[in-house]
Amino acid sequence: MKLTLLGATGSIGRSTIDVMLQHRELFSAYALVGHQNAEKMIELAELVHPELVVMTDPDAALKLKGRLPTGVQLDAGMDAAIAAASESSVDMVLAAMVGSAGLPAALAAVRAGKRVGLANKECLVTAGRIFMQAAHEHGATVVPVDSEHAAVHQALAGHDHDSVTRIILTASGGPFRNRDPETLHHVTPEEAIAHPNWDMGAKISVDSATMMNKALELIEARWLFDMPPEKLSAIIHPQSIVHAMVEYRDGSVLAQLAEPDMRSPIAYALQSKHRLTSGIPKLDLAKTGRLEFQEVDKQRFPAMRLVQDVMKGKDSLAIAFNAANEIANEAFRNRKIGFMKIVESVESVLSMVENLPVETVDDVWSYDREARRLTEEVIAKC
Ligand SMILES: NC(=O)c1ccc[n+]([C@@H]2O[C@H](COP(=O)([O-])OP(=O)(O)OC[C@H]3O[C@@H](n4cnc5c(N)ncnc54)[C@H](OP(=O)(O)O)[C@@H]3O)[C@@H](O)[C@H]2O)c1
Repeated sequence: MKLTLLGATGSIGRSTIDVMLQHRELFSAYALVGHQNAEKMIELAELVHPELVVMTDPDAALKLKGRLPTGVQLDAGMDAAIAAASESSVDMVLAAMVGSAGLPAALAAVRAGKRVGLANKECLVTAGRIFMQAAHEHGATVVPVDSEHAAVHQALAGHDHDSVTRIILTASGGPFRNRDPETLHHVTPEEAIAHPNWDMGAKISVDSATMMNKALELIEARWLFDMPPEKLSAIIHPQSIVHAMVEYRDGSVLAQLAEPDMRSPIAYALQSKHRLTSGIPKLDLAKTGRLEFQEVDKQRFPAMRLVQDVMKGKDSLAIAFNAANEIANEAFRNRKIGFMKIVESVESVLSMVENLPVETVDDVWSYDREARRLTEEVIAKC
């Protein structure tokens, strides 16, 4: 199977390469696509020997000139990433760029009818209806890479969609699950990024700390599994061993369990029929001991309250929810605003934007731009 890896230089991209290298006889890389991390790309190109390397930032591509292994082509810009995602010889595309910047190339892969391993949840949050409709029209298969959604996919396999009464995503609660909310105003980006169970990129780690990640995942689940908001819920599970559960009308609940390591859902996305070894440690429940669950505290995690309104609303609200979060998350990481201001800024922006259905990608970008502009204004007043 020949792959294009979008976001190859990130945490998911590197874990995917780890799984691919365990199965060299099954997988080869057509293209590795990164954004700015030229040094990481050289390392990965030496490991994988793709046919093509693309850096979406042209300045980063310049740094690679003459430094890639012999025979590896080099290209630059988002159009080159889109071409690599829709190239005819490619069987599968891993969509793991971060943020809504990942939408054009992932959508191109879907429109080219590829098997798409989807890590980039922001694609579905901003354009879920358009994305899933395109997959249907072009015969693309969208397989979740997010661990919770991969778990749901497994618990749904072979069952009747209409007999599902509830999908329950688990959430670790992040690094501040037990911290006194009064002290959260002063936490640093370093503290927020230090996730207790998962080793992830900076943006998603902060999203985990605010629980915006879980909120985005609920919207992602809505589109991936074609489920109404009232059937979607989340529960805190500090050990991150149970990744999700599906409840059926007869009262049965099917859960998927594994050690928290993204190589497991990635291996599943690469080959869901004939399971692959992934390199993750085997689960030893006797050693794990307790598996605990508790309600999500919406006072402590207001993102989980906001998402209920977003899911009840129209598409433009979800676009604003995501765009405002991307800007506020980055502002926190750049120490421009405090931790609690992330979700407060998102809430302010939601109160200013229109609540309308969205039919085209151009409209997605127009609502996205407007929400980013409003968020910058809100942040400037913080
Ligand atoms: N990490 C996880 O465990 C995990 C789990 C579930 C879902 N996800 C989702 O997977 C996606 C990737 O997460 P990650 O943790 O791998 O993030 P990450 O480590 O920050 O990597 C992000 C990737 O996106 C590229 N990128 C950044 N900005 C870009 C832009 N403007 N245009 C094009 N490419 C850009 C980066 O390139 P450079 O580094 O070269 O600049 C890098 O390859 C996110 O949507 C996240 O929510 C991640």
